[in-house]
Amino acid sequence: MCGIVGYTGSNPALSRVIEGLRRLEYRGYDSAGVALALTKGEKLVVEKKAGKLANLEGALNGGHENATGGIGHTRWATHGGPTDINAHPHLDESGKLAVIHNGIIENYEELKAELERRGHKFKSETDTESVAHLLGEEFKASGDLATAMRSVCARLRGSFTLLAIQSDNPNLIVGARRNSPLVVGVGSGENFLASDVSAFISHTKKALELGQDQVVVVTPNEVVVTDLAGKTVTPKEYEITWDAKAAERGGFEHFMLKEIYEQPKAVADTLLGRFPTPSTIELKELENISGNFQRILILACGTAYHAGLIGKYALEEWAKIPVEVELASEFRYRNPVISEQTLVITISQSGETMDTLMALRHAKSLGAQTLSICNTMGSTIPRESDSVLYTHAGPEIAVASTKALLTQVIALDLLALYLASKRSSITSNRTKEIIDALLQLPNKIEEILETVEPLRAMTRGYKNATSVLFLGRHVGFPAALEGALKLKELAYMHAEGFAGGELKHGPIALIEEGTPVIAILPPAKSEIAEKMRSNVQEVRARGARVIAIADQSHSLDLPELIRIPESEEILQPILSIVPLQVFAYEMAVARGNDVDQPRNLAKSVTVE
Ligand code: G6P
Repeated sequence: MCGIVGYTGSNPALSRVIEGLRRLEYRGYDSAGVALALTKGEKLVVEKKAGKLANLEGALNGGHENATGGIGHTRWATHGGPTDINAHPHLDESGKLAVIHNGIIENYEELKAELERRGHKFKSETDTESVAHLLGEEFKASGDLATAMRSVCARLRGSFTLLAIQSDNPNLIVGARRNSPLVVGVGSGENFLASDVSAFISHTKKALELGQDQVVVVTPNEVVVTDLAGKTVTPKEYEITWDAKAAERGGFEHFMLKEIYEQPKAVADTLLGRFPTPSTIELKELENISGNFQRILILACGTAYHAGLIGKYALEEWAKIPVEVELASEFRYRNPVISEQTLVITISQSGETMDTLMALRHAKSLGAQTLSICNTMGSTIPRESDSVLYTHAGPEIAVASTKALLTQVIALDLLALYLASKRSSITSNRTKEIIDALLQLPNKIEEILETVEPLRAMTRGYKNATSVLFLGRHVGFPAALEGALKLKELAYMHAEGFAGGELKHGPIALIEEGTPVIAILPPAKSEIAEKMRSNVQEVRARGARVIAIADQSHSLDLPELIRIPESEEILQPILSIVPLQVFAYEMAVARGNDVDQPRNLAKSVTVE
């Protein structure tokens, strides 16, 4: 949802900014642009191009090596189409000051009208250009960019990360944030500003977190943070624990494939250090939660929402706590019944999804206790939650989420087991069995990945299908929803996930001769196994081509059968989702789509 980079230091700014943008391109790729400051008083160099970063690089043609201060932007369009003119940076009326922005300025029309009345001429259709013009006016009045930024922020409604650079002070960058992410990378003789740490990870591991409504002034040797009243605040410093290599493709054709193959490790890392003995579980992070809650409400978006739907089964079955799961974007705009006895869990890979953040704030304002499950340290959602359970998936770059989902489900399973043992709702023998089953998952995922080639070949045979249906029951139902979402995101095919029992109430009418149906079968001993097998027969009888995902406990005579290792029924999605990810990946490749950057999407959606 727009990536932002700023650099000031003694090294060439352009290469640092472009490198950062390359790492942030997952946030949006409708256009890219830079503004570079050369020597004092010289005009800013501004270049911006619609389309991916490569177009901008082509236009820059490797020039401007002497610039030591610069800002860069990669865009996910909201206001104004993805054109060169709407691309950021935007200039003020004088042309001496450039601004980039992530978020939405909700009162931009009002500001624009006011500025036009004072004679300002606008070039783009964006909300951002109003900020650039307003900042220019305020700068003219105060002569100080930070003061000007504070005055402007006080007038803005909505969400924003803003960076500004000015031609008269080429080594100074001023940033500000409200509801959108901005971190500072502290280097030696150079400093960075970015939407996330991946932009500067190969240059420094030292980062500063910025709080809500703060303005930061960065020069090569100094970082000063203030609130909007101009009072200095001390930002929280932290060390980044992963390295640049983790954010690179490492020989895989796409980030998504690399991330699919990283899942055994991601799951193992998320389980690491949780079991002091073979039958006990420890979650120190939950000490801030009082434990007297009567119900759990899980809020999330996209794939993280599916993690919540899967986690509900373990929380209810093991810990015997009622759980509801709701889309974060729906929760905020109703009057839910929430009290201190409600534990609200937000799940977010990025920790920045605006719908989830707003839902968290709404839940807090209603008095709920809050816990977040998140993959990105220092991001806004965990910062604003009472407690946080970090997943350890490592950086996830591909827009379609894979390893983050599996680790989110693992985190929920850990939570379920922890609450179950606290409330004594399961025996210690049963706890031990579940711990054993959890610890076996990384090897079982590995096993699936080692035998995935026939699935890839089979997938290519379906590349001209117009619609694919996914069926599951119990935990297989949210797994089916995730399979369908992955296929939509990546292959741009119509896909829907259904609960097996619901089939006869409508969806079965969609089945035609040859319709591919992916059916997820529970273990044969499950009480719903027979029912799911019947659903498979029902769709086959109507001409569907069934691809079944089943463990060895089933003897099935189906032409297309994908085997997964046996596991506890509740844990099965950790395994059954892996072939669904591979199916969607391979389909996208077969259809010639951009796997890591699917059309119209962004990895981190920081607008509502
Ligand atoms: C976007 C991404 C999805 C992701 C969702 C929630 O839509 O494209 O892959 O599941 O946001 O993201 P979060 O960072 O909150 O998990």
